[in-house]
Formats: sequence, structure tokens, C-alpha cells
Amino acid sequence: MYKCALVLAAGQGKRIKSDLPKVLHKVCGKEMVIHVIDTIRKAEINDVNVIVGNGAELVKDRTKVKNVEYSLQSEQLGTGHAVKCASEFLKDKKGVVAVFTGDTPLISDATIKKLVDSHINNNNSATILTSIVEDPTGYGRIIRDGNEVLKIVEHKDCNEQELKVNEMNAGIYCFDIELLSKSLNKLSNDNEQGEYYLTDLIEILKSENKTVGAVITDYEETIGVNSRVQLAQAEEIFKDRINIKHMENGVTLIDPKTTYIGVDVVIGKDTIVYPNNIFEGNTTIGNGCIIYQNSRIKDSTIGDEVDIQSSVILDSIIGDNTTVGPFAYLRPETKVGKNARIGDFVEIKKSTIGDGTKVSHLTYIGDAEVGKKCNFGCGTVVVNYDGKNKYKTIIGDNSFIGCNTNLVSPVEVGDNTYIAAGSTITAEVKEGDLAVARAKQRNIKGWVEKKGLKK
Ligand code: UD1
Ligand code: CA
Repeated sequence: MYKCALVLAAGQGKRIKSDLPKVLHKVCGKEMVIHVIDTIRKAEINDVNVIVGNGAELVKDRTKVKNVEYSLQSEQLGTGHAVKCASEFLKDKKGVVAVFTGDTPLISDATIKKLVDSHINNNNSATILTSIVEDPTGYGRIIRDGNEVLKIVEHKDCNEQELKVNEMNAGIYCFDIELLSKSLNKLSNDNEQGEYYLTDLIEILKSENKTVGAVITDYEETIGVNSRVQLAQAEEIFKDRINIKHMENGVTLIDPKTTYIGVDVVIGKDTIVYPNNIFEGNTTIGNGCIIYQNSRIKDSTIGDEVDIQSSVILDSIIGDNTTVGPFAYLRPETKVGKNARIGDFVEIKKSTIGDGTKVSHLTYIGDAEVGKKCNFGCGTVVVNYDGKNKYKTIIGDNSFIGCNTNLVSPVEVGDNTYIAAGSTITAEVKEGDLAVARAKQRNIKGWVEKKGLKK
């Protein structure tokens, strides 16, 4: 049977008190609406239409990589009205449409599949996802007669009896497409909030003797994020899920409470992660690595058996058996080879560092290509910027760069070269040469005594 999905993402999110549209707030490093879209796709529903309104351009821009379609709800008149705005998308389609709110990032693909299967197998007109919660404040309540679902009543419209019901509406539903399109015109906004509620469709369908089903799932999957407090709750639940997955895959997390791993991060077996680490975006960490405390690794690929300590690594690639830190800063487009050493207070930007090269302390390398098995003395600076333009430095294999060297770009240093400590290199150093580029030492005999400074 044909399946498609709608994601409601047009609301402002007043309760989150933000200039950013609510659905763009992130949980474990990913926008809530993208969590929902990704999970829908995982559940094998490919045609996704996102209803945008508040901050429409921004929401479209952030979700464009997901290849979804959009409908515009220019005035936010409620969730029922939002679905109506997708009528062009639903036109001429037959089958099932699953409807999601953009603020339920914890929903799993397994639950979506269960909901859709139950909807199809029971031949329902509508099927709602619900959960049982001790305190359902703020959520719509599922009103049943015995087992039969009668209607959904919004918290603000509940009478005393209805307020006591602790089965809540998750805001995720399946509908028969044609029936949904026909019924939306029957919604009214005669309620506490003066909005067209999607939830009222249930009572309408029941009054027409249509079958309405419900699937009950864990509350944890159905949390709707309306406020910053709920955002933090969602973050904690998601973080636990991610950390458990990595531990089950053979990663040691010494303190999962203080380990923050983005949803799309991949970590190999026998890697050990110490407390207070943050791994973000499209990051892959290999097998047998040790990531000591306080590192941030974003959009990077780390090889096997790499040791990293208290460092920031952005959009970089690190080869096997290399050590990084403490206190290294690897900026975008850095590529470090295997068996290399990047030590303390070293900053590298847009550079390649060959296998076995050691940059052990207090060094800046920018816009450079460095060969294999080089050794950088303490305090080397690649002077890549003349105040106007950036230039490139090339260093061959097996070069020894003495302490406190400046390499004024553009400049080339050949293979097997030595540079004397304290040199400022402005011209090519040919293979096999030693370059000394500093004033010769001069000693003035007895100068201290002559000046009357002797103590
Ligand atoms: C909604 C449900 C409630 C359910 C809860 C689950 C309704 C009337 N109520 O309430 O029964 O328990 O979700 O989390 O549906 N949106 C639009 N256009 C609008 C209004 C909202 O696109 O005009 C979008 C919002 O961006 C949001 C979603 O719909 O992503 C839900 O809106 P929200 O205001 O959060 O609804 P709740 O009050 O939480
Ligand atoms: Ca909500």
C-alpha cells in the first residue's frame, strides 16, 4: 500500500521562548524536525511533506538536504489547518498518510512501523499513537468507552473527569488519505484556543461510523518538546539511548553521564572514552582509540589506536596510531598521517602532515604540506598570511625544523633538510641542505663590568 508522511513544523513554539523556530532546536546535535524526518525514512516511508510557516525559509534551508517537499501554512490556525495546507500534496494520492508533529524527536522507526501496520491490518480509517503517563499535563487525552476510542480532548478543553485520564495523544497518527482530505473541512475552531485541531477528526470519524484504532507505546518515545525543560528531558533520554548503543557495540564509556555523542557518530570496538567528551556531526572514530578527558571532535575521521587528550578537532582526518594533545587545536581540512605526534599547544589549519611526523609543542602550521618523518622543534610558526593573502608552504620528507623557526610562505623546504633554530626562512631550502637564517652571535668582552652592572 502507498504510504506518505506529513510533518507539522509551522508553529512558532511560544513556550520555548526563542527566536529560532521550535522544530530547529537540537537534540543530541540534530534538529528535532530532522530527527522526525530521518526516523520516518528509516520506517520506509519515502514521500515526506513538511508543513512550514513560522521561520519557513530557515526551516526549509535546514531541511533541504533531506529531499522533502514543503507546504506553506502562512497563518498558524492549528494542527488541523496545518494538515489542510498539504492538500495539494495529498491530492490524487490513495493509501496511508502518517502525520507527525515536528516536536517529537524520540519516536522510533519500530514504533512508526507498528502504527502503520496496525492501521493497515485493521483496515482503520484513522489510528492514533498514544502512551500512558503519570502526569499528562499539556497533552491531549484519549477518551475511551471500554476499549473503544471515542475522541481526543485537548488539555485546555478537558472537564474534571477528562483531566484524570492518563492516556495521552502522542501527536502521531495514520489516516486514510482520501478520507482525511474529505473530513478536514468539517473541523471547527470552537474551542479554548480558537484553533482548528487535527485531534477533533477522531470524533468526526467516529460519528460517521468509521473505525478508529490506537497503538499504545512507551511514554519516552512520545515526549513532545514544548519548553526548554522538555528539551533537556529529550536530550537526556536520547543521550542515554546513544550511549547504550555504543556500549553494546563494544565501546567503553567511563562516565556515560558526561559523554555527549551525536546521533550520527560511529565509534569502533575497544575504544575507551574518558569523561567530558563531545563528539559531533559526521564523526567516525576507529577501533582501540583512547579519548582522554575534555575533547571536542566534530565532523572528523579518526583512525585506529589513536590517543587524543583535551583537544579540539574540527573537520579533520587523523591516521592510525597517532597521538594528539593535550591541548591541540586541529582546524578544518587538516589531514594527519599515521604514527604521527601532534603535541601540546599545537594549532594546525588546512594542512597535510605526513606519516611519522612529530609536531610536539607550541607550533602553528597553516596552509602547508608537510612530508613524512619530519620533526618540528618547539615554537615553529608557518607565517601563512601577509595581512592580505594566504600562501602555501611545502616541506619534504625527513626534514628537521629547528626550534623557533618562522617559515614565511610561500616557501619550499626539500627532503632531508635541516633548519637551524631561530631561523626565519624566506627562500627555498634545497634537498640535503642546512639553512641558517639568523644574525651571527657576537660576544662583547667584559661589557657588564664596563657598564658598572656587575653585582
Ligand atoms: C498537540 C496535540 C495534542 C498532543 C500533543 C503531542 C493538537 C490540537 N494537539 O498539542 O493532542 O497531545 O501535540 O505532543 O493537535 N503546528 C503547525 N501549525 C499550527 C499549529 C501547530 O504546524 O497551526 C505544528 C507545530 O509546529 C508543532 C506541532 O504542530 O510541531 C504541534 O503543535 P503544538 O502547538 O506543539 O501542539 P501541542 O499543544 O503540543
Ligand atoms: Ca507539542
